[in-house]
Amino acid sequence: MIDAQVITIDGPSGSGKGTLAQLVAEDLGWHLLDSGALYRIVGAMCVRREVAFAAVDEVAELAGALQISFAEGCVTVDGLDLTDEIRTEDAGEHASKVAQHPQVRDAVMMLQRSFRSPPGLVADGRDMGTVVFPEAKLKIFLDASPEERAQRRYKQLKNKGLSVSLRGLLEQIKERDARDRGRAVAPLKPAADALVIDSTSMSIDGVFEQVMSEARARGLV
Ligand code: C5P
Repeated sequence: MIDAQVITIDGPSGSGKGTLAQLVAEDLGWHLLDSGALYRIVGAMCVRREVAFAAVDEVAELAGALQISFAEGCVTVDGLDLTDEIRTEDAGEHASKVAQHPQVRDAVMMLQRSFRSPPGLVADGRDMGTVVFPEAKLKIFLDASPEERAQRRYKQLKNKGLSVSLRGLLEQIKERDARDRGRAVAPLKPAADALVIDSTSMSIDGVFEQVMSEARARGLV
């Protein structure tokens, strides 16, 4: 048994789970696992190596052999800097396509579990509480309406100086949600024992306070 507690934060894209996970991990001094980044890396490497997303065995083999490092805000894969490449809207789409395959998820699972080490881990994704760390003492499912999530993403991209269409983003979000929620393996859904928080009309600070008070109530802090 590994002596490290886990807090899982799952939810759809744009719900704020990445920001929340970062704040909680920083506050507690725990490790952070951005599991979506792993699927984004697999998608990006498929594009670079010209492996079709539907070529399940090849994608799984590729996923299992990657040398990945997250250090000082940089993502390095097999010696390549993929930090910016995995953050595009296309990379999110590609991730969602490779993530549908059970063989690919199995290959990524080992990697995800290896992030668990003392003093603790905050893991964000879609199936952290349901599949990867079902024993976690605190599971959060962070949701928000598709319109609010599209609006948040729109602002983020605008701030980066990128020109995007709000309507296009909303369509993409709905499409990705449908794929993530409807897939046969590890679909996006709250664990039976998850605390569901709807952040549509909440600030990130409000969500953070609620999560930290739950962590204290469960003796994690
Ligand atoms: O969270 P992020 O937007 O980076 O995730 C990209 C895609 O990776 C998601 O749309 C989802 O299909 C997939 N994913 C997953 N399981 C996770 C994390 C991400 O299937 N635990």
